[in-house]
Amino acid sequence: MVPRSSIDNDSLSKREQLRASAWSQRFNMKSRALFMAPMTTWSSNPDLTVSADELRYYNRRAANVDYVITGCTFTLRRQQGFTRQFYAGSDDYVASLITLVEAIHGGGAKAILQVHSPGRMVSAELQTDPTIEVVSASAVRPDRAGYRTPRALTVPEIKTITHSYYDVTVRAIQAGFDGIEIHGANTYLPQQFVSPLTNHRTDEYARDGLLFIRELVDAVLKARGDARRTDFIVGYRFSPEEKEEGGLRLEHTFGLLDALCSWPIDYVHASLERYDRTSYFNDTVIVDALRNCVRQRKPLIGVGKIKTREDISRALSLGFDHLAMGTILLLNPDWRTTTRLNMEISEASLPPDIPPRMRDMLLKMFV
Ligand SMILES: Cc1cc2nc3c(=O)[nH]c(=O)nc-3n(C[C@H](O)[C@H](O)[C@H](O)COP(=O)(O)O)c2cc1C
Repeated sequence: MVPRSSIDNDSLSKREQLRASAWSQRFNMKSRALFMAPMTTWSSNPDLTVSADELRYYNRRAANVDYVITGCTFTLRRQQGFTRQFYAGSDDYVASLITLVEAIHGGGAKAILQVHSPGRMVSAELQTDPTIEVVSASAVRPDRAGYRTPRALTVPEIKTITHSYYDVTVRAIQAGFDGIEIHGANTYLPQQFVSPLTNHRTDEYARDGLLFIRELVDAVLKARGDARRTDFIVGYRFSPEEKEEGGLRLEHTFGLLDALCSWPIDYVHASLERYDRTSYFNDTVIVDALRNCVRQRKPLIGVGKIKTREDISRALSLGFDHLAMGTILLLNPDWRTTTRLNMEISEASLPPDIPPRMRDMLLKMFV
């Protein structure tokens, strides 16, 4: 029995319905599903367990969607991207993860844990702990104020990271999550290995720029296999381009996507500022380029300024298989039933159930 999606599927043609149904069986997911996009809350307890404020925040928003992708968690104590980011790097934190799963399931959605390694993207503003390790593929400092020059990871350190993705998957399964998403987008560590701007290594991790990502995905898939949980969803989030000169371009992303499509994962998730945006460098519509590359080998999730049911219809018609919504759910905890939506982040539009630290960060960053 294929689960029903929050997106109305009745308007699909017979052929589309059959394809959607075959897909949802093959990938263990609802077809045309709606996701809550991953959004960091900066609001864990001081000991980095998930806080009661976060649980309330997730529980209410889960009622709007099929899947909630959590804000990113991290796997190694000294490689933490944000202050008050909830932690999943030790078995002592499984109980905390269980509370998060229960809040999301209680709200009515399935729960996907997003996992992240910041690499060189540790900003003095977002991470105030000076003891955090700033590491990357190579020692290339981000060209932004408040960032330090990273140290190039040694091969044993790389293996420690990939092993931590095995362990975190085991914990996610123990805690009852329905899946995991590897955060390979938004300039974080996996992207730093793929981008020619940040990978100047001379070892096997440069000769094969996708090696690190393959090891991460392999670790997650091995944990899923060892637990005999073929129904456990594995997704990968990527950014198609970087703006910087010498950075990631669509041709690199096509190589990454080809590889991802050949591995037994369940979806690929494009991180986009707008779902219908064009390339930073020409008028290529990104979703067209991605769709042509993926060629229906995997479900493709789109995101970026999807706010209304009209946006949903349009984004699906452009060729995304599933959709994710971020800011609009943050601002409208009851999005599904609200008729007058708050559209932009402001002091007045932030609902009272946003955790206080998240509220402060949102006003600092987006207003
Ligand atoms: C407050 C906030 C926190 C975010 N944190 C994450 C994160 O932890 N992981 C991630 O992949 N993207 C993160 N994003 C990006 C969103 O997932 C999403 O791609 C982006 O907001 C665009 O979608 P939207 O227009 O629906 O908000 C964050 C965005 C916001 C606004």
